[in-house]
Amino acid sequence: MFKQMYKYIPEMSFGNWKIVHEYDDNQKYCSLYNGNLGAMIDHPTEYERNKYFIDTCYGNVLIAGLGMGAVILSIMDKKNVKNVDVVEIDKELIDIIKNYVPFNSKINIINKDIENFIPKKNYDSIWIDIELAMKDTMNIEYKNKFKKYLTTNGFIKCWRSEWVNLQDLIVI
Ligand SMILES: C[S@@+](CC[C@H](N)C(=O)[O-])C[C@H]1O[C@@H](n2cnc3c(N)ncnc32)[C@H](O)[C@@H]1O
Repeated sequence: MFKQMYKYIPEMSFGNWKIVHEYDDNQKYCSLYNGNLGAMIDHPTEYERNKYFIDTCYGNVLIAGLGMGAVILSIMDKKNVKNVDVVEIDKELIDIIKNYVPFNSKINIINKDIENFIPKKNYDSIWIDIELAMKDTMNIEYKNKFKKYLTTNGFIKCWRSEWVNLQDLIVI
């Protein structure tokens, strides 16, 4: 399961973002909203969508999409994870999340659009999680773009927009 992110990040609003503490079955969860769209929640359902990457990632890791840092917290203490480069487009989000979430020294956050990110090394594990932009065709584009930066046994996975019903993410 994800760490309980509400213990690290208080409720707040900044820019177009909102952090909200919510309940489901009497359990407290932390949600990140971008406008009225749910961008991330540390709920077991969302964990399932990230689980394959969390369980199998190793070595030098590249993640596109910081969000609230839930995936990073889940992998940073794995012994076989050497280093994690996180590419995030939103500077304000980076500053806030870094301030609250205790990332360890393996984590290197880079403020860039993943579209313009040219890796300086090869990665063993790549996770592209830039949410609603992740249409099927983009999964293929990202796989093509980054496959030359994979080590021999390295792998790349993308979060899939078709895993969720867009309407379910909209909160009025
Ligand atoms: C679903 S959230 C990631 C959730 C994250 N995995 C977590 O554990 O909390 C998507 C993130 O991707 C970022 N993002 C969206 N488009 C991006 C782009 N083109 N390049 C880099 N980051 C992007 C958003 O700002 C947001 O922080």
